[in-house]
Amino acid sequence: MTNSSDEVQRGLQDVIALESHICFIDGKEGRLIYDGYDIRDLAAQSNFEETAYLLWYGRLPTSDQWATLRHHLVELRALPSAMVERIDSMPATATPMDVLRTAVSELALFEPEETRPGPSSIGGAQRLTAILPSILGQFHRRRAGLPPLAARPDLSHAEYLLYALLNRDPSELEARVLDVALILHADHELNASTFAARVTASTLSDLYSAVTSAVGTLKGPLHGGANERVMEMLEEIGTPDRVEEVVKAKLSRHERIMGFGHRVYKVEDPRATILREWSRRIGEAQGDLHYYELLRKVEEVVHREKGLYPNVDLYSGSVYALLGIPPDLFTPVFAASRVAGWTAHVLEEYQDLRLIRPMAKYIGPTDLPYVSIGSRV
Ligand code: CMC
Repeated sequence: MTNSSDEVQRGLQDVIALESHICFIDGKEGRLIYDGYDIRDLAAQSNFEETAYLLWYGRLPTSDQWATLRHHLVELRALPSAMVERIDSMPATATPMDVLRTAVSELALFEPEETRPGPSSIGGAQRLTAILPSILGQFHRRRAGLPPLAARPDLSHAEYLLYALLNRDPSELEARVLDVALILHADHELNASTFAARVTASTLSDLYSAVTSAVGTLKGPLHGGANERVMEMLEEIGTPDRVEEVVKAKLSRHERIMGFGHRVYKVEDPRATILREWSRRIGEAQGDLHYYELLRKVEEVVHREKGLYPNVDLYSGSVYALLGIPPDLFTPVFAASRVAGWTAHVLEEYQDLRLIRPMAKYIGPTDLPYVSIGSRV
């Protein structure tokens, strides 16, 4: 049966493609809900491990379930020695998102038992979530000449990610800021990378293939790559007195201002509201409100000139920069959180599988005469 309407929904805008219990975005009210829980409550009271449990199992864990998951994630952090060798053989100049995409794909070669599609993929979901910081740490530490990774079972997912990238234990404030950022990024309904993961899973392909698709999709500057571009813009602006000039010049060239606008939110992205506050807090703690003040001014100009609201990426880059994370690792840090959502969606797809296969409206010719190659001009 074909669709009775010939109308094309470009970018699949407003198309409801499937039912999901995982995540709800209220774009008019600016609310984000994971499995029934408001993101503001989770950001204030939860932690990444608990949020991941919620996404995977659809309910908050008891303290025993939380402790078991946390212990399990620590055990699953270890890279197989063959993967360490593979990552060490990658060019030190490679883009970390390329390293991540390649490493996730290659990991499947060493863990075939985890790649079977189906409900048992929960093991793979936890493995991938636990191991992403190790992949990033292994690559970054080698290129930066830092000592090898230690297991650090005492550290949470957020603390371990910071330790892996910075080679030092984070302060309580630093660990909390990153934990909140990870909670906020963990899922976002059918965003492009999650959709890519679900499309892959809907062919009954395996979880590692689905996450490889997702990493490649997250990389783009209109999606996860925006946070790094926001920092490039701040470097270009330099001082608050240049905000007006630089932003207006970009808009007059019809350039997109990274960190603004959203397909679903018609008001401010609630994740931006929360991260703005944490950006101020960490800036104050470090006696450096430079980024915060620049971004406030950018917000003012963009809203006045284009009526656009900030999205999550506006403040995440400045938060990561203040934590000391290098800019090319901002999007990989996003991935180290979103992997929980990707894998939850893949598990949901396996439970309610239907091949995702939309249609295109053909606008080319249909009756061209075939001309043999020797007669073509
Ligand atoms: N800067 C300038 N103009 C913009 C922006 C922006 N950031 N966002 C939208 N617009 C304009 C756009 O040019 C268009 O104007 P016109 O109608 O005059 O041509 C209008 O708003 C509608 O844009 P659209 O591209 O049809 O809207 P969309 O729903 O497809 O775009 C978006 C959503 C996120 C791709 C877009 O807002 C954008 O490019 N933002 C910048 C990149 C960014 O910050 N991405 C992170 C998104 S949130 C986190 C994530 O998903 O990873």
